[in-house]
Amino acid sequence: MPTLIATEFEDLQLYVRGKVRDLYMVGDLLLMVATDRLSAFDYVLPTGIPGKGRVLTQISLFWFDHLSDIVPNHLVTADVEEYPAQLRPHQEELRGRSMLVNPARMFPAECVVRGYLSGSGWKDYLRTGKICGIALPSGLRESERLPEPIFTPATKSMSGEHDENISFDQMVARVGGDNAEELRRLSLEIYQKAAEHALERGLILADTKFEFGRTAKGIVLADEVLTPDSSRFWPSDGYLPGGPQPSFDKQFVRDYLESIGWNKQPPAPELPGGVVRQTQEKYEQALSLLTGPAVVRRP
Ligand SMILES: Nc1ncnc2c1ncn2[C@@H]1O[C@H](COP(=O)(O)OP(=O)(O)OP(=O)(O)O)[C@@H](O)[C@H]1O
Ligand SMILES: [Mg+2]
Repeated sequence: MPTLIATEFEDLQLYVRGKVRDLYMVGDLLLMVATDRLSAFDYVLPTGIPGKGRVLTQISLFWFDHLSDIVPNHLVTADVEEYPAQLRPHQEELRGRSMLVNPARMFPAECVVRGYLSGSGWKDYLRTGKICGIALPSGLRESERLPEPIFTPATKSMSGEHDENISFDQMVARVGGDNAEELRRLSLEIYQKAAEHALERGLILADTKFEFGRTAKGIVLADEVLTPDSSRFWPSDGYLPGGPQPSFDKQFVRDYLESIGWNKQPPAPELPGGVVRQTQEKYEQALSLLTGPAVVRRP
């Protein structure tokens, strides 16, 4: 499959180009195309990962369906045969990596749930003993399972800025008390169900980020869901708290960028072929594990 770095549909009206997704307006709907772009340390790299956009789309579609008893979502259809006629010229580029969705007014917050101590949560805990104002027991190790999953929202940054963890009160100030309560409730319930599913597939869902919006249907789950770009998945086999765990995301990319001493300022460097291939394999493995048959029987 050729690598799709960006779509250039000049006959369509661009709605927004995110780090990974290109969104176009199609009548009353949005066409969301997941490209093969990859961002690391908040920068889009010049090198793409072949087929990554398809993997992200297929994983999100799986979860939208799996979670539909908990929360409605923005999906209208991902079947290109059902797309409006104006999209027919782009059918082959869109197949497998796009969705038609209902436009939503997005809440200006990222809804993060953490079941394990990692990433920015681990850094905050080391510094303050807390994450987003939530006090945690002392003496926890990196990657350790938390006593219970916690809701740790973050700001939704404009491109180029870093997302910043915020307290629940700051979340209330951004979206209002009722919305904040409902988004927390939904996020924790989704995490619970998804983590259970992942574990049956031999994967620990360490943490994940949801984006919700509001449509005529009320609050809907939007954007991408529970993919290796928005979540940390670890193989449960060999899980060992006390350090970082191997994960199904851009680990190889981050490790490579650290190894060459990139100063994390633009321009971002190209990736060598080996790193691209290993990353591509990881994404494909995540798709087949998450959407394939259970490998671990329920106790
Ligand atoms: N149903 C929807 N209605 C309106 N906007 C949406 C909808 N679903 C997703 N979006 C927005 O589309 C954009 C998708 O872009 P993309 O996923 O590439 O991410 P980004 O926001 O640039 O980066 P990151 O995901 O790292 O925060 C996001 O701004 C997201 O909030
Ligand atoms: Mg995004």
